Amino acid sequence: MPAQTIAVASDHGGIELKALICSELEGRGLGVLDLGTDGPSSVDYPDFAMKLAEAIKEGRAARGVLICGTGIGISIAANRHAHIRAALVHDAFGARMARQHNDANVLVLGGRTIGPEVAKDCLVLFLETPFEGGRHARRVAKLAECGER
Ligand code: RB5
Repeated sequence: MPAQTIAVASDHGGIELKALICSELEGRGLGVLDLGTDGPSSVDYPDFAMKLAEAIKEGRAARGVLICGTGIGISIAANRHAHIRAALVHDAFGARMARQHNDANVLVLGGRTIGPEVAKDCLVLFLETPFEGGRHARRVAKLAECGER
């Protein structure tokens, strides 16, 4: 039984990078919940953000990775869900900060904008970097309030 399950989803712009991310997660002994898409046919990224948000809400995965062509559309969609803090990341510094300062529970990558080695670095930092808490906990709590306006 894996210690933690990570949900992964992408649209057609992210299927190659999704395969790489799933393989990296499996190689680290983590459970992978692959929510699609499964082929190159054009699909709508909000549908896959929704699937992943539901999986986290229902406790089927602890955290997630989302990918679309740029990472932009799928991160906008994911952040409509109050329990999701999705961070679109392009480099290791961003990935580290997304965990330390924002307690991001979803890593977002652009399948057409990031190279495989940088993506792997981002994934490792997303998985291994703890949230710093303190003043950042106050700010993260205010994010939840934003959804109530
Ligand atoms: C799909 O062509 C593309 O628009 C999508 O993957 C993403 O980049 C949207 O933000």
